[in-house]
Amino acid sequence: MLRFSKSHNVLAGRLIVTVGALIGTGAILFGLIFIKYREVLTVEKLVLITACFVATISVLLCTILYYFVSKPVALLEAGMKRIAAGELGQPIEINSSDEMGLLARTLNSMSADMKLYHERMEDAVSEKTRKIMEAQEELINAEKLASLGRMAAGVAHEINSPLTGIITFAHLVKDSLPAEDGQIREDVQVIIDQANRCSAIIKGLLGFARRTDFEVVDLDLNVLIRTVVDMVKKQARFHNIRLDMALDYHLQPARADANQLQQVFLNLLINAADAMNEKGSIFISTRLLKGDGGRGMFEIEFTDSGPGIPEEHINKIFEPFFTTKPVGKGTGLGLAVSYGIIKKYGGDIIVKSAPGKGASFFIRLPMQGEAK
Ligand SMILES: Nc1ncnc2c1ncn2[C@@H]1O[C@H](COP(=O)(O)OP(=O)(O)OP(=O)(O)O)[C@@H](O)[C@H]1O
Ligand SMILES: [Mg+2]
Repeated sequence: MLRFSKSHNVLAGRLIVTVGALIGTGAILFGLIFIKYREVLTVEKLVLITACFVATISVLLCTILYYFVSKPVALLEAGMKRIAAGELGQPIEINSSDEMGLLARTLNSMSADMKLYHERMEDAVSEKTRKIMEAQEELINAEKLASLGRMAAGVAHEINSPLTGIITFAHLVKDSLPAEDGQIREDVQVIIDQANRCSAIIKGLLGFARRTDFEVVDLDLNVLIRTVVDMVKKQARFHNIRLDMALDYHLQPARADANQLQQVFLNLLINAADAMNEKGSIFISTRLLKGDGGRGMFEIEFTDSGPGIPEEHINKIFEPFFTTKPVGKGTGLGLAVSYGIIKKYGGDIIVKSAPGKGASFFIRLPMQGEAK
């Protein structure tokens, strides 16, 4: 908003005073010359002197008008054109204390405010765009996972029965072989092991498609975590791993299926142990987060001291069959299954990792969340 304060009419005042002073000085000089040279002055000389005075005063007036009015007006016009063209934040260089200076300062501050507003708007727009892109990506991923899940469940179901047959009959063949056929017995055992591996993959696929039975009950997350931790402590791969816990014992019960959550926690712990080459520490903590609209979220954190996840893998680790483990060690279904389970409870899994500084997985579950 333009505000005319004390400098109101400063320019007009200056111009009036200057013009008055010029005309007054001219008139006095003219009078003095006239009195002093009265006798020798002819009409022609008088006209010449008058013309010289008028010309000098006109030149002086034009110069004054140029500096006080034309030049600042041209600068203001150029500045306004720059603002109109969107070149914000470039000040108009008029430092006088008159109306021109006031107008220039007001325009400068308006231009700076517009620039700031523009930048904030740009930030807000790019933030909104990023969120929309993220939501879109999540939607595409969810759709991809859902269709993959349906396909996987179908394939798994079809393969499961012949595979059970292979395992059963391989056991029968092995049992019927005499003890001296050591090599053949070993070969049959390879068949059984490989078929069991296929069976494990199928179990994973079925879990991914959630075609397994589950029962949603009130669960004490801390008790569940302790059970899983006690379970893994017995495994050799955790013998050189320190497991620290900071559990919030004021958590209300969560509504979920114990086996499913156990499967998620177990996979995160095994992933951490594998990533750390079975040496290091894992920190597990639980807490309640205040969600939007006052709805609370349980958060379970698993942080390891491992090598972390390379940036180029972060967006892939939840994809089915993505694994960096050697053939035969990992199927790449663990996190995809875990993600599917947590999403179905209306929750989320967030991963943060700085390569070389370990990885953190945060499982968020809404309070009173149920599988859809
Ligand atoms: N804590 C971790 N630190 C570093 N990398 C990890 C961690 N957790 C997961 N990853 C990476 O994510 C990949 C996918 O994990 P995911 O659990 O889905 O499959 P997997 O462990 O390879 O196989 P599976 O769980 O089916 O046996 C891992 O192979 C590994 O590269
Ligand atoms: Mg895994």
